[in-house]
Amino acid sequence: MKFSSNPQKLKSWNGDVLFIGIIEDKSESALKLLEERYGNSITKNLFQKKFTGKSGQIATFNLLKGLPEQLLCVIGLGQSNQLKIESLRKAASIAIRASSGSEGKIGVVFPWEDFDKEKAVQAVAEAIRLSIFKDQRFRSNPDDHVFPSELEFIGIENIPKQVLSTANATCAGVELARKLVSSPPNELTPEVLAENARQIATDFNLDLKVLDQNDCEKAGMGAYLAVAKGSDLQPKFIHLTYKGEGKIKRKLALVGKGLTFDSGGYNLKVGASQIELMKFDMGGSAAVLGAARAISEIKPSEIEVHFIIAACENMINGSAVHPGDIVMASNGTTIEINNTDAEGRLTLADALVYASKLKPDSIVDLATLTGACVIALGEEIAGLWSPNDPLVEELMTAAAESGEGLWRMPLPESYKDGLKSMLADLKNTGPRAGGSITAALFLKEFIDSSVHWAHIDIAGTVWSEKDKGINPSGATGYGVRTLVNWTLINSQIN
Ligand code: BES
Ligand code: MG
Ligand code: ZN
Repeated sequence: MKFSSNPQKLKSWNGDVLFIGIIEDKSESALKLLEERYGNSITKNLFQKKFTGKSGQIATFNLLKGLPEQLLCVIGLGQSNQLKIESLRKAASIAIRASSGSEGKIGVVFPWEDFDKEKAVQAVAEAIRLSIFKDQRFRSNPDDHVFPSELEFIGIENIPKQVLSTANATCAGVELARKLVSSPPNELTPEVLAENARQIATDFNLDLKVLDQNDCEKAGMGAYLAVAKGSDLQPKFIHLTYKGEGKIKRKLALVGKGLTFDSGGYNLKVGASQIELMKFDMGGSAAVLGAARAISEIKPSEIEVHFIIAACENMINGSAVHPGDIVMASNGTTIEINNTDAEGRLTLADALVYASKLKPDSIVDLATLTGACVIALGEEIAGLWSPNDPLVEELMTAAAESGEGLWRMPLPESYKDGLKSMLADLKNTGPRAGGSITAALFLKEFIDSSVHWAHIDIAGTVWSEKDKGINPSGATGYGVRTLVNWTLINSQIN
């Protein structure tokens, strides 16, 4: 979508669709603008429609006499003491949905002066583009899906072009992640995930290394390879590298769980375990590739970012891992696999050892790791585990600014007892209670203690059954916005 800002007042604006936001208890200035443009009857019309400016409310007017625009959307922003960037996101999302069928240029009039303008503009731009994304690749007869293709922020000065291009690049990353997650597992294999990484590397000139099964064997990645053993498809270990211009001051590693399908293995997913949705078990890797795409387009300087994915399938055949097998990860840790369905942490173990060897300042992993996290936090909030307070603060800020839900969870060392094995250094699963915590503690065993590390469990947020406006139903692309924003925060810290 083409975004621009226009310092002109509404009076002299020309376009096809107009969005105007109304604060419930501070409506005078917006109503004045409306009356100036449409005459006094507009207020009466709003009153008749019982429009008060409540959050989420919308009143639409078609074919306005003598004016260029075909559609006016008046949207409620709620009470002034509750006004947040999230209110603008929500209003923008409702308004763009209401303009389905219109084409051309939208103008947006929001109370920009009440916000950090650049952040508000970026949030609204993203909300608009992400709310109308629809994946129709698998339909023979795609629905009509017409929306305006241009958006102008009215009455706002000095918005750097870069803010608008960051919004577009970030959305392209989220859309890529959504497509990857939606893709069915017969189509999106480890090989295809690697091809997607190759496409990014070619388009944006990044370095790419893809290790095949042999390379991984040589590297001693016994935990990862144990998971891949039961599949007819070859595992692909993907490592993309972005290098910004100038002297590198920060080195980051983003690691994503990349199970293109998780059947559970011999601990097969049965009953209500939603095996048919387990294509989304590569949501972490989708977020990492989406972030890679976005970051490569935004091109932050003085920063190096590594994108790492140990991709494979968790399947069953005659060579599949048995419940009870003992394997060795690439750092020499032996693991008794007491549950083949706790496979994500096995693949991540070797990916985290690999990431640690690159000696980054921070590692962040994203994974659809535990059903327990879905129970704890639901569909809108991901869990964050990290022993490092400053890194937690950076990530919490990045997520809050991006409009993605994130909540810090505890990482008590005492729970590590649950992972004690009678024979090996560790078991891969502990007791049912606190399952997301023991999963995080398991991952921590594979991190070099000199590296800052955080783990984000996106099992609940990767997929949404309900249409949530900015996140239409299905794959959400969760994590891309937070990862991109966190990377940008890191490139500005120096
Ligand atoms: N991919 C699943 C986690 C998951 C479950 C994500 C439901 C989204 C929705 C993971 O590999 C898994 O199966 N975890 C097990 C761990 C258990 C065996 C300790 C789980 O959460 O049930
Ligand atoms: Mg599993
Ligand atoms: Zn899994």
